Amino acid sequence: MKGRFITFEGGEGAGKSTQIQYLAEALRALGHDVVMTREPGGSPGAEAVRHVLLSGAAEEFGVRMEAILFAAARSDHVEELIRPAVESGKIVLCDRFMDSSRVYQGVTGNLEPEFVTALERVAINGMVPDLTIILDLPAEVGLARAAARAGSGNPDRYEKEALSIHEKRREAFLEIAQKEPERCKVVDANQPADSIAQTIEKLAIEQLALSRLPDEPPREKRTRKRSSAKAASSDITAEPQ
Ligand SMILES: Nc1ncnc2c1ncn2[C@@H]1O[C@H](COP(=O)(O)OP(=O)(O)OP(=O)(O)O)[C@@H](O)[C@H]1O
Ligand SMILES: [Mg+2]
Repeated sequence: MKGRFITFEGGEGAGKSTQIQYLAEALRALGHDVVMTREPGGSPGAEAVRHVLLSGAAEEFGVRMEAILFAAARSDHVEELIRPAVESGKIVLCDRFMDSSRVYQGVTGNLEPEFVTALERVAINGMVPDLTIILDLPAEVGLARAAARAGSGNPDRYEKEALSIHEKRREAFLEIAQKEPERCKVVDANQPADSIAQTIEKLAIEQLALSRLPDEPPREKRTRKRSSAKAASSDITAEPQ
C-alpha cells in the first residue's frame, strides 16, 4: 500500500505552516496516518544543514554552494523520512520542497537551469510530490505577516531580501504551476485562514482520491471486503493501515 506525498509552497508568510496544520487535522479526522515535515530539514542529517542555510552562514560561499547544501539536505530527508513513510502508507505533508529550490536558487539565485535540474534529480531520486499546493499572495502581504508573526526574532537569510525579489519568486511559483498543472494547484492565500483550509482540503481529497478510512472491521469482514474486485483497486482507503 502506498501513501501520498503533498508539498506546500509559496513565499515568506504565505501561510504554508498554518495550512499544513489544518490539512493534517482534516486528514487525521478521516483516519489517515499523517506525517508533517519541513525543508530545509525534516531528518536529523538535514536539520544539521538547516541552520547553516537559514542563518546565512553559507551565503558568502555563493548560491551554487547553497544549492548543493539544499540538495544534500533534501536527499537525506527523502531517503530517511519521506520515502519510507509514503511506502508504509502514510500521508506526508511537507512545508517547502523542490519547487522552492527551483525558485530561490534557480530563478532568483540565477543558477543555470541544467545545474538546478541535475541537483533536483539527484536529491529527490524519483520522489515527485503527488500534489503541490502553491499559496499565492502579494509579497508585501506575506512579508508583513512574517514580520508580525508572534515570537518571530530576526528576519532570516531570505526574509531580509528586497520586495522585488520576493515578487519575482511569486511569479516563478505561478510559472511552475502553469507548466505542471496536474501536480501543482494555486490557492489564493489572501483570504481568511479557515476558508483557505477548506479549499485545500477539498483539493487534496479530490485530487488524491482520499476518503474516510473505515474503522478497523472484524477480521472475517475485512477478508471478504478485500477479496472484492472494488477493494482490489489501488485506493489508499481499501487497505488497512
Ligand atoms: N490567511 C491568513 N490571514 C492572515 N494571517 C495569516 C493567514 N495565514 C497565516 N497567517 C499568519 O501569518 C503569519 C505567517 O503564516 P505562516 O507562518 O503560516 O506562513 P509561512 O508561509 O509558513 O511563512 P514562512 O515562509 O516564513 O515559513 C503567521 O503569524 C500566521 O498566523
Ligand atoms: Mg513556515
